[in-house]
Amino acid sequence: MKIKRILFDIHGDERGQLVAIEELKSIPFDIKRVYYMYNTTSKVIRGKHAHKKLQQVMICLNGFCKLHLDDGEEKQTIDLNSPNEGIYITNNIWREMSDFSDDCVLLVLASEYYDENDYIRDYQDFLNYIK
Ligand code: TYD
Repeated sequence: MKIKRILFDIHGDERGQLVAIEELKSIPFDIKRVYYMYNTTSKVIRGKHAHKKLQQVMICLNGFCKLHLDDGEEKQTIDLNSPNEGIYITNNIWREMSDFSDDCVLLVLASEYYDENDYIRDYQDFLNYIK
């Protein structure tokens, strides 16, 4: 599957922790958009789509959630619970997020501006698209 775990350096000292992220250094694309999800209730499943072109890195800044990935051949579930770990997801991967803790803040760095035409929101359409 075309995903990669990225570990960010933690610049910690007695005052606390700091993580810095720079495009094309720790992130393999130009960052055009940043968004984040919070106050997501635990029973909710978000995502449920794939992208035709968009690449993303997901980072759970606080709390935890689960990330379910599917490239049409292989499925993988990743526990997101570490603010210094990013998951790089290419295009053509179906993703769902679940099991959000009350305090979960899920940050997404994206390679493109928001474009509804880039979304594949039906799972069967996704399987047909990647064939
Ligand atoms: P949605 O795609 O449903 O989120 P998720 O993938 O987590 O299920 O997006 C929720 C709403 O936010 C929807 O109305 C579209 C809007 N939105 C933007 O305006 N810009 C963005 O960058 C994103 C990701 C969503």
